[in-house]
Amino acid sequence: MPIVVSGIRSTGNLHLGNYFGAVKNFIKMQEDHQTFFFIADFHSLTTHPTPSDLHTNVKQVLAEYLACGIDPEKSTIFIQSDVPEILELYLLLNMNAYLGELERTTSFKDKARQQPENVNAGLLTYPVLMAADILIHKANLVPVGKDQEQNLEMARTFARRFNRMYNVETFPIPQAYIFEGKDMVKIPGLDGSGKMGKSEGNAISLAESPASIRKKVMRAVTDAGPTEMHQTKPEVIQNLFTLMEVVSAPDVVSHFDNAYIDCSIRYGDMKKQLAEDIINFTNPIRARIEEIAKDNAYLSKVAKNGAEKARESASKTLEEVRKIIGFRRFY
Ligand code: TRP
Repeated sequence: MPIVVSGIRSTGNLHLGNYFGAVKNFIKMQEDHQTFFFIADFHSLTTHPTPSDLHTNVKQVLAEYLACGIDPEKSTIFIQSDVPEILELYLLLNMNAYLGELERTTSFKDKARQQPENVNAGLLTYPVLMAADILIHKANLVPVGKDQEQNLEMARTFARRFNRMYNVETFPIPQAYIFEGKDMVKIPGLDGSGKMGKSEGNAISLAESPASIRKKVMRAVTDAGPTEMHQTKPEVIQNLFTLMEVVSAPDVVSHFDNAYIDCSIRYGDMKKQLAEDIINFTNPIRARIEEIAKDNAYLSKVAKNGAEKARESASKTLEEVRKIIGFRRFY
């Protein structure tokens, strides 16, 4: 069975774009793959979160993924900082990661530009830690978004380099699993910018209150409206329809579609309907998030089991790697 590893940065608050993109696919993958999903709290240290933010965010992400249907019985869900084996592999891989290639990474250059006052070594070696996350479980597949492709390519480089250096086949070369076509519904932002994203500031999160959803949807960008029958929709309008297609009933979508075609559409009405349908869609998820986030006993059980399963897999790989490199214990 193929082994899948994926990490989630612990910044909290999944949005509708995450839900219809990565999360839905993770949930499908856990049925027929051996899946490891983890919360990348070590990675989040590159931006120096406060201790209480760090903890709250990890808890929120854990509750959100569980609420969406990541099933701890089917996949190993764990918190990165519970698995110290990852850090040892990170150190070992660092010895064969070169300054030049790390400096050339796009995500490093972007971050260095975004936070010039804090260009720390953790940022530089971010791809090495990510490679350790992946290689420690000998992953075959890594579901990632487009922005992570280069980091994954580096993980492949480090895997090949290790295998070649010691003339072994320890690490499978992890392949990107990119969701596309019918598996990937790209959810647009409400500002007409194309893609819903947390950093774009145009996202509706799964935990968002109804009042805030209404406010955001009512503020969505539109145009002056169609003036001719059968006009093609400009992007900002198509975006509203795309959102509607994922949360509303088909007859609701066709009602507004027809209204667009014969120029009788009123965007105010459409937005009101869209807001209510988003609320109906997210309500049960939000309730589950809140319920799970309150259940400390459950969260602690999930995290503990996950850590145990992840450490079992990780320590096997690490033992093998230590031996290959030449570490022998004297006791
Ligand atoms: N870098 C990923 C992101 O920002 C998160 C991540 C960390 C990850 N380690 C990983 C993803 C390992 C896949 C595999 O989204």
